[in-house]
Amino acid sequence: MSTEPAPGAVGAPRPRIEGRLKVTGAAHYAADVPVPDLTHGWMVTATVSRGRIRDIDASAALGMPGVLGVLDHRNAPRLNPEAGNYFGPDGSLQLLQDDVIPYAGRPVALVVAETPEQARAAAGALRVTYDIEAHDLDISPERPAARPASTAFGPEADTGDLTAELAASVVVVEERYRTPEESHCALEPHAATVWWDEDHLYAVDANQGAFSVSEVLAALWSIDRERVHVRAEHVGGGFGGKGPCGPHVILASMAARRFGRPVRIAMTRAQVFETTSSRPPTDQSLTIGAAADGRLRAIHHRAAYALSPLAEYIEGCTEQAKILYAVPAIRTQLTAVPLDILPPASMRGPGATPGSFALESAMDEVAERLDMDPLELRLRNQPVAAPVSGRPFSTRRLVSCLREGARRFGWAARDRRPRSRREGRLLIGTGMAVTSFSAGVFPSTAAITAQTDGTFTVSVGASDIGTGARTALTAVAADSLGVGTERILLRIGDSDLGMAWGAGGSRGTTSWSFAITEAARKLRESPGDPARPVTATVDTTTMIDFQPDRERQTYSAVFAEVAVDPATGEVRVRRLLGMFAVGRVINPLLARSQVVGGMIMGLSMALHEESLRDPLTGRQANGDFAGYHIAAHADVPDVEADFVPDYEPQDPSGFNGLGEIGTAGTAAAIANAVWHATGTRQRTLPIRLDRVVEPAAVVMGPAHAAVREP
Ligand code: MOS
Repeated sequence: MSTEPAPGAVGAPRPRIEGRLKVTGAAHYAADVPVPDLTHGWMVTATVSRGRIRDIDASAALGMPGVLGVLDHRNAPRLNPEAGNYFGPDGSLQLLQDDVIPYAGRPVALVVAETPEQARAAAGALRVTYDIEAHDLDISPERPAARPASTAFGPEADTGDLTAELAASVVVVEERYRTPEESHCALEPHAATVWWDEDHLYAVDANQGAFSVSEVLAALWSIDRERVHVRAEHVGGGFGGKGPCGPHVILASMAARRFGRPVRIAMTRAQVFETTSSRPPTDQSLTIGAAADGRLRAIHHRAAYALSPLAEYIEGCTEQAKILYAVPAIRTQLTAVPLDILPPASMRGPGATPGSFALESAMDEVAERLDMDPLELRLRNQPVAAPVSGRPFSTRRLVSCLREGARRFGWAARDRRPRSRREGRLLIGTGMAVTSFSAGVFPSTAAITAQTDGTFTVSVGASDIGTGARTALTAVAADSLGVGTERILLRIGDSDLGMAWGAGGSRGTTSWSFAITEAARKLRESPGDPARPVTATVDTTTMIDFQPDRERQTYSAVFAEVAVDPATGEVRVRRLLGMFAVGRVINPLLARSQVVGGMIMGLSMALHEESLRDPLTGRQANGDFAGYHIAAHADVPDVEADFVPDYEPQDPSGFNGLGEIGTAGTAAAIANAVWHATGTRQRTLPIRLDRVVEPAAVVMGPAHAAVREP
């Protein structure tokens, strides 16, 4: 082993290793890997939300130029109905297996042709008719079908005497908050290039975890996982939407099997909206009781979210109520409402993001009713141990985030009365919110080979979906081996590299780093032989089992300033500042980029994003980038983000994940700023013009006022 001093790659602000490949077009994505003899698949999707296929008339399509054939439920290969996800069987994977339509956008056929244009033209000539049944898209928690959510991620909270604490409270806020269905909107649409070689299945696929996709495909085809080879070397964003095994890769595997040639499916943006999952809508109620001095006495957080009867799913909106504040009585109730929709998937801080909008909006309402600084209210209710579980906290630098964020933002100068600042006709307001996000590690394997030329090949089934994981892991490997990064060759994005957690749950980089660090330790301890490559391999599964039982979270404090035009209802975010506690930061440049991106997603959620469904068909009415607005450059002000000094004692290198903490918290900070500006609470997202515009301020005549909701 080398004896040179550790160069300290961790902590250095370095740009992405693959940046040059990406900007020169040399990085191949799933839709552009060169493959000989390629064919192209085009999905045909259900235009109704519930019912059965009456007939598919493919006669015209089959006669069109270049068409190899059409797969539908009558002729498609059979799949294993037991294949599923973490929770068990998942009916959304069972494509073309029967005539049942469980949601709009369900693929009902795949047309395969020599070119994508030919496949698309033939797909347009397919005639599909349905026996339509009434669908249900109403999310309200009073629905008869509503049921308690799965507690697979942890039990509900029920501590203290809620009734007594609320009765003894001087201030009780009880309000309802709603967030809409939203879409992930990764820049790269889902795509896969798939082929079979004998009984081995090969897929280059845009996903967040090549290993887990290989497991699902192996289960669907009832073959050994070792015969499924999934590569995802470069992926253009995921945000949770590329976590599940997507319909494109399943359908392409069926078509490649049937036609004996490689098949590529590259979705259009509209297909991404309708065939891949979304964040479910939520309907949440908060009851918070507080004493006159601001000490919280009770939090009751009820949250309902939509899912599909096809697969279990948890949108854990109530998690932060168990973590953030010292409260004698805490009760959480999470309700799942089965609807005729595609099973939802984790999106941009699942649970925590819609959940913190409700909780932190309600906390701002408590501060208002107490006539107390909302920042001071947070400071007065800091717990010494996790309030519900009683577990000791691991590192918890939330107060540092609050104080440093407030200092940089200039919070102390704020007049907390609403409508107290004006600039011309604009109303100016500021708001803040805090949040936490669950942190930790999941099992992964890693292998490191010390080559005879002094370089190290580091293999880990990681996914870099644009986060900079490749760059971060290279630094971690270099430091754990005590060499410079130029001697590290990192291999990721391939299910052949072995079991690994995916890029999700804010646990990708921590899980892979843990495995790399342990492999490096093992390699350093193994007897060296300069004449021969030496390999050390680890599987962290059992090491993780022995982690101490502490509450491990990341934290943030977010501050926002908005300008509201009451005549038009326009809300502009003018300043956004986030202070984050995420353990030791691996790469400040990329980490900042990650949390700034997350805060922009929070801004986008607060002001813009909303999937609207046509009540008649249940189809999304705005399933494209013309109708579904995500924050664009013009919507985003200078965003300031930084990290407080922190170190996670449960991690061998002090790391925690920072994938999602940037998003959670931001929407509440903006909604609270809009209240401060206008004096009106915004309890339903997004904060659209029609929800903000003030009739008395409308100076443009009745036609303008007519756009308001009744
Ligand atoms: Mo992330 S939303 O857990 O992929």
